[in-house]
Amino acid sequence: TPDDHSTRVHEGILLQCYATLLLCCSSWWSEVQMGPPDPILGVTEAFKRDTNPKKMNLGVGAYRDDNGKPYVLSCVRKAEAQIAAKKLDKEYLPIGGLAEFNKACAQLALGSDNEVLKSGRSITVQSISGTGSLRVGANFLSRFHTATRDVYLPKPSWGNHTPIFRDAGMQLKAYTYYDPKTCGFDFKGALHDISKIPEKSIIVLHACAHNPTGVDPRPEQWKEMSAVIKKRNLLVFFDMAYQGFASGDIDRDAWAVRHFIEQGHNVVLSQSFAKNMGLYGERVGGFTMVCKDAEEAKRVESQLKILIRPIYSNPPMNGARIAATILNTPELYKEWLVEVKSMADRIIKMRDLLVSNLKKEGSTHNWQHVTDQIGMFCFTGLNPEQVERLTKDYSVYMTKDGRISVAGVTSGNVEYLAHAVHAVTK
Ligand SMILES: Cc1ncc(COP(=O)(O)O)c(C=O)c1O
Repeated sequence: TPDDHSTRVHEGILLQCYATLLLCCSSWWSEVQMGPPDPILGVTEAFKRDTNPKKMNLGVGAYRDDNGKPYVLSCVRKAEAQIAAKKLDKEYLPIGGLAEFNKACAQLALGSDNEVLKSGRSITVQSISGTGSLRVGANFLSRFHTATRDVYLPKPSWGNHTPIFRDAGMQLKAYTYYDPKTCGFDFKGALHDISKIPEKSIIVLHACAHNPTGVDPRPEQWKEMSAVIKKRNLLVFFDMAYQGFASGDIDRDAWAVRHFIEQGHNVVLSQSFAKNMGLYGERVGGFTMVCKDAEEAKRVESQLKILIRPIYSNPPMNGARIAATILNTPELYKEWLVEVKSMADRIIKMRDLLVSNLKKEGSTHNWQHVTDQIGMFCFTGLNPEQVERLTKDYSVYMTKDGRISVAGVTSGNVEYLAHAVHAVTK
């Protein structure tokens, strides 16, 4: 009947409305939980909100000049001008990146007369800074290092190491590194742990300026570590994010990498030009694999390309052009060496000033670790309560582990910092 018909029509309309309502209220992502904020970037957010004119941000690891301002190296400005004058095209780079950059990048790390480079038994690809390099390396290991998934990190290590390797499908383990009692290197503990790592596992080593502790092994200690690592037949993954930035001398900072290769370790190596050229946002780095011979290097290269192609296709060119121009132009290269040293020296000077000002304040603690440690970061030994007081009472911002970025200290604020640190540690 017509009545039945209109009821069915009404029911149909109601059902449609109900379905639309359901669609509006439901979501594809209702199961997604709120994640924690990034521990380091969270510090910056809190710093920005603080209105204290004396506030200090010692959380982020980016170099600042003595006025607390970001610093663009003069060799970088000159390289940029040279590149601009050439009016180069902006075609895609090859999957492995800019050839003249890759060559210079490997030479910088290994030394230009290294036998590995002469015999062609290594492969270097341009990467998206140090992070991208580590991730490409982690993905390669995940695909081809089938003997084991275990990656041993120093305790503690850079916070991003764990998710980089974990997201690539590797399993994270740790070896003793830092000694909280001395705020220095626990050499005995490290050797003990490393000597027990199962064969063929991967061990991550910070080539210099260990982040977050600023604690590096001495050459004699590196030698012993190399011997034990060789005995255990471990695959060495060097992370070199601070070449030149630690001591001010690029060769000295690359000593461990070169020594391990000399001792027969076919290492994999991540490099970053974020810190030592101040090219943070340009995202330029290199990933190198040292192989048995040139034939193996060719095979490895082919697989690196296969791996990179579906991730980001090919790397960005601007930073690589800048770095290559600096590394391959003798006058710019010379100027760069002076500028890297000046950044490292300023940091070393701030460490000295912090300690002398702490003494002036009347602190009787032993602060020698502050000057013994090297590179951008200092593991102060402050506990979480002291860090909290520094932030709350003095607007000094840092990560909870007591790490400070010495790059954020200047001759203008070091006295205030010493005063605040003394106040929370006396
Ligand atoms: C130990 C270590 N590795 C790698 C990186 C990678 O940095 P980027 O991706 O900016 O080159 C950093 C940066 O803080 C670092 O400290």
